[in-house]
Amino acid sequence: MALHIKHLKTSGTIIRSSPFLINRLLRAIDFDRALTVVQLGVGTGCITRTLLARMRPEARLVAVELNTAFIEQNSDLTDPRLSLVTGCAGDLPQIAHELGLGALDYIVSSLPLAIMDDDLVKRILVASNDLLAHNGMFLQYQYSLSQLANMEGHFRDVRVGFSLANIPPAFVYECSPGLVRAGAQ
Ligand SMILES: C[S@@+](CC[C@H](N)C(=O)[O-])C[C@H]1O[C@@H](n2cnc3c(N)ncnc32)[C@H](O)[C@@H]1O
Repeated sequence: MALHIKHLKTSGTIIRSSPFLINRLLRAIDFDRALTVVQLGVGTGCITRTLLARMRPEARLVAVELNTAFIEQNSDLTDPRLSLVTGCAGDLPQIAHELGLGALDYIVSSLPLAIMDDDLVKRILVASNDLLAHNGMFLQYQYSLSQLANMEGHFRDVRVGFSLANIPPAFVYECSPGLVRAGAQ
C-alpha cells in the first residue's frame, strides 16, 4: 500500500486488488490453453502471483512494469516462466519482438487507463488488438466505465463485468480482438 500511495500518479490506486477482483478479472482465462500471457502494470504483484499459480508448467508470462520501485518489490519472483520487464506498456510490440513472443493468448492489464495520456492508451490498445491470437483476450479492470467507448473502438467484442468486493468496486472489461465493427467510436 505504501508504494501505491507514493506513486499514486502512475499507479492510479492506493490499495492492491482484492482476491475477489483478481478472480473476476482472470475468470475468462482458459489456463489449459494459455501458453503466452502478457501482464501490463504489475504493481504489488498480486495478479502476477495468481497467474503463475494457475498457469501451466510450460506456459510463459511476460509482465511489464514502468516503475522500478514495483519491479524491486517483486524481485523475489524467480519463477522461470516469468520475464519481469522494466518498461512502458506502449512499447509492447518491441518487447514482444525482442522476447520472441508469438501470438498472445491473453493480455491482463491493470494499467490506470483513465489517468494515462490518450495517445499512449491508443497505442496500447491498437498493439494489444494486433498481437493477440484470434481467440485471445484482453482483460482489464477499471474503476469506472469512462474507457468503455475507447475499448469498443479498438476491439471486435467487449463485455463488461463488475466486482463489488474491491476497494473501490471495479469494472472488468473482457475484450476479443479482431476488426472493429463499423460505427464503433
Ligand atoms: C493500479 S496499479 C496495479 C495494481 C495491482 N493490480 C496491485 O494490486 O498491486 C497500476 C500499475 O501500472 C503501472 N503502470 C502505469 N503506467 C504504466 C505503463 N505505461 N507501462 C507499464 N506499467 C505502467 C504502475 O506503475 C502500477 O504499478
